[in-house]
Amino acid sequence: MTDFKKTNVFPRWANRLPLYILLGVVSVFLGAIFVFSYWLSPKNIDVGYAPEQPIPYSHKLHAGDLGIDCRYCHNSVETQASGGVPSVETCMNCHTHIKKDSPHIIKLQEHYVSGKPIEWVRVHQLPDYTYFNHSAHVNKGVGCVECHGRVDQMPVVHQVQPLSMGWCLECHRAPASHIRPKEHVTNMGWTTENREKLGQELVEVYQIRPREDCNTCHR
Ligand code: HEC
Ligand code: HEC
Ligand code: HEC
Ligand code: HEC
Ligand code: HEC
Repeated sequence: MTDFKKTNVFPRWANRLPLYILLGVVSVFLGAIFVFSYWLSPKNIDVGYAPEQPIPYSHKLHAGDLGIDCRYCHNSVETQASGGVPSVETCMNCHTHIKKDSPHIIKLQEHYVSGKPIEWVRVHQLPDYTYFNHSAHVNKGVGCVECHGRVDQMPVVHQVQPLSMGWCLECHRAPASHIRPKEHVTNMGWTTENREKLGQELVEVYQIRPREDCNTCHR
């Protein structure tokens, strides 16, 4: 007599098949999350992103406490698309005599002598397919603080705005409350009563008509 109970159609390991499938599904799922968060997550929506820099340069100290104007170091903001990061020479205007013995300044001095630029890590970065221009904003009275926040209070620079398309367009559609007198573009603490009304006047004086067509920012 044949023992029917023992003639199994499926081999023994097949009992564990559901478990294997479950494990497979879980690891694909975790893998997808990893790939997305590691490679695909766009930097530009990383509000709060504050990478560690090769030299602990502090905006709070230099731009805040010492009151050095932004344009002393970011001298292309008014004339070019890029804000630009200063060369070591700019730092050495002061640091040939200030804090010479600090290990950080010794490192600065080494870059100065070798001519090797400091590899500052970028904080703000739009995707390649977008176009942004600093001078177009700064020369129309849009202050640094509108997009970068209180940099003068940051020991380490971090991103405060999403830099998303919706964020750009929100201001392009209704700029008035973001416009200030041009002479205050780098004055982070500037305020006035009735900002909206002054903004509306300045929109007329500076002839501000921000564009919303696609090729303004995608060209
Ligand atoms: C003494 C020179 C100096 C001054 C003054 C200065 N900066 Fe900077 N800035 C730097 C350096 C160096 C970096 C690159 C290192 C870093 O990110 O901290 C930088 C980086 C930045 C970044 C981040 C750039 C990126 O990678 O996205 C912003 C934004 C910025 N500065 C804004 C300002 C504003 C606004 C002011 C004026 C309130 C200002 N800076 C004043 C030297 C300066
Ligand atoms: C309308 C918004 C806006 C204003 C106003 C603005 N920035 Fe920026 N800034 C940006 C964006 C967006 C980026 C990233 C640009 C990119 O990835 O091409 C950036 C990048 C930078 C950088 C990194 C270098 C670069 O250009 O990519 C520096 C430095 C900087 N800004 C400094 C300043 C300073 C100083 C001011 C004021 C004088 C200022 N920004 C005003 C939006 C702004
Ligand atoms: C206008 C003058 C001036 C310029 C330009 C300047 N610094 Fe400074 N820096 C100072 C002063 C003043 C101090 C504070 C010294 C103290 O603590 O007594 C300082 C402090 C520092 C410190 C802290 C040193 C320590 O160990 O305490 C670092 C790091 C530094 N600066 C980096 C830079 C870099 C990088 C640049 C160029 C992007 C730069 N500085 C440009 C004046 C300047
Ligand atoms: C806080 C307000 C504000 C924000 C935020 C802003 N813009 Fe603007 N943008 C303006 C104003 C004001 C002008 C000047 C319009 C004019 O000259 O009539 C302008 C002009 C421009 C121009 C120049 C257009 C031309 O005529 O050549 C470009 C490009 C631009 N913006 C791109 C961007 C991008 C990309 C972003 C987002 C990353 C952005 N803007 C965020 C206010 C803003
Ligand atoms: C004022 C500047 C500005 C204008 C005008 C603009 N864009 Fe964008 N766009 C951006 C920025 C900045 C990004 C990157 C945003 C991000 O990475 O989240 C972007 C991203 C995109 C993306 C990628 C997907 C996404 O939403 O992030 C598409 C598609 C796009 N834009 C299409 C358009 C089209 C179509 C128009 C015209 C109707 C347009 N854009 C007008 C600034 C602009």
